[in-house]
Amino acid sequence: MIDWNALYKVSLGLYVLGAKDGERPVGSIVDAVMIAANKPCALAVSCNNASYTKACIEKTKELSLSVLPKDIDPFVVANFGFQSSKNVNKWDMVTAGELNGLPVLPQALAHITAKVVSQYAFESNTVFIAEITAAENIRDAENLLYEDYRSKFKDEVIKSFQQHMKEKANG
Ligand SMILES: Cc1cc2nc3c(=O)[nH]c(=O)nc-3n(C[C@H](O)[C@H](O)[C@H](O)COP(=O)(O)O)c2cc1C
Repeated sequence: MIDWNALYKVSLGLYVLGAKDGERPVGSIVDAVMIAANKPCALAVSCNNASYTKACIEKTKELSLSVLPKDIDPFVVANFGFQSSKNVNKWDMVTAGELNGLPVLPQALAHITAKVVSQYAFESNTVFIAEITAAENIRDAENLLYEDYRSKFKDEVIKSFQQHMKEKANG
């Protein structure tokens, strides 16, 4: 038996995962991230197989991560987590920065870029193992946890997305 309430006790943060689709920046929200090694410095990130960001990382072998703070605008999570880069230019909807040619969020606590050295495909997800090429500490504050999202932040994220879709429909 697998009780998801047990799995939720494994603490995870929330991140914007960035990648490139040719010249176009793409990205999604991810929680499934870990620092996997320190020699060389490497991370693991798990992408849903339906994610467009995943398809782009598979092609370019490059990714960025922006570590989200607790006070992040809920629309950032809605923008990157509730729609696909297949149809939307998500980085046009936020202030975007760049590190090693990859998109990053200036409001993030830290920026990381990495090059994929290996990947493992499950039925649902693909785990990328990537060597870290840069890691910059932007500011010190509390980072947003997946648990914060589940327990309280989700409602605000949903509301901000509904508001955005309403404004889009009204032109
Ligand atoms: C709180 C939260 C956590 C998420 N965690 C992951 C994750 O770890 N891996 C993943 O691939 N997608 C995750 N997602 C889903 C993607 O962000 C979502 O499917 C997104 O629309 C994919 O966009 P894309 O098609 O542009 O890649 C998460 C979404 C939310 C809201």
